[in-house]
Amino acid sequence: MHLSRVAQSISESVTLKLNATAAALRKAGEPLIHLGGGEPVTLAPAAAVKNAEELFRSRAIRYAPASGLPDMKAAVVDYTQRFYGHPITPANVLISSGAKQAIAMALTAIVDPGDEVVFAAPYWVSYPEMVKLAGGLPVVVEAGDGGFVPSLADFEAKLTEKTRAIIINSPSNPTGAAFERELMQGLFARCEERGIYILMDDIYHRLVFDGFEPPNPFTLASDNSESSKLVVINGVSKSYAMTGYRIGWAVAAAPLVKVMGVIQGHQTSGPSSLTQLAAIGAIAEGDPDVAALVAKLQENRDLLLGKLQAIEGVKVVPPKGTFYCFADVSAIEPDSSKLAAMLLEKVLVAAVPGVAFGRDGHLRISTCGSAEDITEGCRRLAWALDPNAGATLEIAGKTLHRDG
Ligand SMILES: Cc1ncc(COP(=O)(O)O)c(C=O)c1O
Repeated sequence: MHLSRVAQSISESVTLKLNATAAALRKAGEPLIHLGGGEPVTLAPAAAVKNAEELFRSRAIRYAPASGLPDMKAAVVDYTQRFYGHPITPANVLISSGAKQAIAMALTAIVDPGDEVVFAAPYWVSYPEMVKLAGGLPVVVEAGDGGFVPSLADFEAKLTEKTRAIIINSPSNPTGAAFERELMQGLFARCEERGIYILMDDIYHRLVFDGFEPPNPFTLASDNSESSKLVVINGVSKSYAMTGYRIGWAVAAAPLVKVMGVIQGHQTSGPSSLTQLAAIGAIAEGDPDVAALVAKLQENRDLLLGKLQAIEGVKVVPPKGTFYCFADVSAIEPDSSKLAAMLLEKVLVAAVPGVAFGRDGHLRISTCGSAEDITEGCRRLAWALDPNAGATLEIAGKTLHRDG
């Protein structure tokens, strides 16, 4: 079979694959605990469904404009004013089928073959593959101090004549770590000096803990005119627990948005009008749902941190936001794929191997499930990871033996 070079260069999403495996195991009746997911178990805001219901029942759901419904763009104008204090117009907004597509459209619009796109490791699994799909070269920046956030000097060392864009995801999937304002200020200044695009993936900007305020990209940019190279990505998937609705957006200079809309028009056409209506409802009335989700996530994070810190050999840095803890398990098993496979097979706990995010020796463990799942998952993890934790473990009425 002939496959294109691009097709051959792309790897499957480890997180989506894990979701599929977890779903299959559950369907087969296995008592699986999924601590690898990236979506809340809470429900979408009621206003989301109410807003879409009438159109749904009309049975006349038609194409939406390629770059999004005018009312959905107006909702994003409102969102950007409310949460960033930044005035924009509908011409600055592209509505896509998820934040993922908004990022893909931005990359397709700006990257030429051989252009470099820079981002920090550990990174979201899709960044390298999305950059390659757009014809670019992913350039990964490691923190010199071995941590989760590279310094300005670490980034500067990777900027070249070929750097077209930098992607910033803060707080980050998979670590929950955040870029401080000073670092962001430095990065924005360097990128503006050198004409480098900044793709700010802000999908987790409202899912933050302990009163942390993520730096506002619009206040860091000195150029917010229509020649700005800042693209801010957002969506309803995470904050409003609407992953399956597939609505995200990009806010950028109008000429760039126009091009992204033209590309999207030929690629997928506009996102579903039905779920755009739902997203409009969520943005208008879903703030209490977001606040409740943040409170639940913070509780879950504290629960998970306590449980993980009690396991011999596991190190965790408290995340500042998101759904994730990125636990260092290298003292137990440096090969994270091997470890994740063992956990799934032996104690039926799904966690994502750190190697998928560019950092082996770690596991991404989610806080977006229920407290019961976190407690039960950690009970199993503690047994599987610590050889001194007893000879047997009960799972759903079955007894596992350490040497069995
Ligand atoms: C960092 C990051 N960006 C973007 C996305 C994609 O979001 P959406 O579901 O809106 O496509 C995700 C989802 O996992 C993510 O973690």
